[in-house]
Amino acid sequence: MELNLATLPDYLRQRHAEIRIFESETELHIEEIGDGNLNTVYRVSDAERPERSLVLKHAPPYIKILGPDYPLSTERLTYESRALDVYNQLASGSVPAQYNFDAEMAVIAMEDLRDASVLRDDLIAGSIDIAIAEQIGRFMGSVHSHTYIENLDSGVVQQYKQQFANTTMQAITADYVFTFPYTEHETNFWTPGLEPDIQRLKADTDFLARAAHLKQIFLTMQQAVTHGDLHTGSVLVQNDTAKVIDAEFAFYGPPGFDIGLYWANYFLSYFSHQNTLDVQSALKTAVVQTWRTYTTEFGVVDATLKAQTLQNIFHDAVGFAGLEMLRRLIGAAHVKDIEGITDIPRKLSVERAALQFGLTLVKQHQSLRDVTAILAML
Ligand SMILES: Nc1ncnc2c1ncn2[C@@H]1O[C@H](COP(=O)(O)OP(=O)(O)OP(=O)(O)O)[C@@H](O)[C@H]1O
Ligand SMILES: [Mg+2]
Repeated sequence: MELNLATLPDYLRQRHAEIRIFESETELHIEEIGDGNLNTVYRVSDAERPERSLVLKHAPPYIKILGPDYPLSTERLTYESRALDVYNQLASGSVPAQYNFDAEMAVIAMEDLRDASVLRDDLIAGSIDIAIAEQIGRFMGSVHSHTYIENLDSGVVQQYKQQFANTTMQAITADYVFTFPYTEHETNFWTPGLEPDIQRLKADTDFLARAAHLKQIFLTMQQAVTHGDLHTGSVLVQNDTAKVIDAEFAFYGPPGFDIGLYWANYFLSYFSHQNTLDVQSALKTAVVQTWRTYTTEFGVVDATLKAQTLQNIFHDAVGFAGLEMLRRLIGAAHVKDIEGITDIPRKLSVERAALQFGLTLVKQHQSLRDVTAILAML
């Protein structure tokens, strides 16, 4: 059975006992709500009592927006489901509740985060809630510290490594974040006028060596359960509470990758709000508070390990943040925060500034001492 709007009612009737939200005879209203590239996301509600609803995420065996000629294993949803389980256990309330996972059909039934906004859209609107950044810092700190290699018995580490051996999705990130943007690749694009900056970047051997080193860290450092795609589009905000979604890239990897991605998207937002000083100032505070709450939470598990471990995570995070910024400017997937700027000279100036900052983060990621040193460069 292929899952689509026409076949979903039957599917849901067959599975109502497992999903346990609707009865078999409930009349259902189904709409597609996903705006993503890889999967389809539906909202299913009781036609008579629309407050009874759930969200279904389905992974077709290919990349949704490209079609069946671009196969991609549906196992990505198995990793997302496993990550939801781990998150619910270690940071309950930070993710949607998972009602059911159907591995055969690659469908997760989960809590409907009704009336939530996407964090990226809030940032674009200039609405910066420091408490959300703190919640994400706490979420990462809790998950990373409780799954951190040095805090666990080797048997438990082994289990995490096996459960999160998400090599297919890791390879996609390796290509699109660490490799393609710095080569001639058909998926790269940029605003005309940015060429001189890109040429400089591609000719910078120090930068290229550091990018290659960070790629090695990404591919080989197996340290903690890492979300793998924690940008501001993967956070929904519901009633002032941050909820993390879209964990299909979850892997056992370097925790700095999550912090770096999250920070990078705040920095991109920072540059997009050029000349709006109060918004920029709030974004800076959000970055600081992410790290404060992260380190506090990390220290709860084992204070003695904390200092050196956190310093290493910090350095990785800074480097990853730089590469995430760069690939969002010149690689395949740009961010709405900047793409939405219609005044092209202004867009170009935002992108130049962001590119220079991203480059500096990569080149100085080992020498920057703490989060205030990053902000001092803004
Ligand atoms: N539990 C939920 N409650 C409410 N809305 C949700 C929920 N999960 C996902 N959505 C909506 O669907 C969108 C896409 O979800 P998600 O990012 O998980 O899909 P995806 O196909 O993996 O996206 P991408 O291609 O960006 O990876 C979200 O931005 C959000 O608007
Ligand atoms: Mg996704």
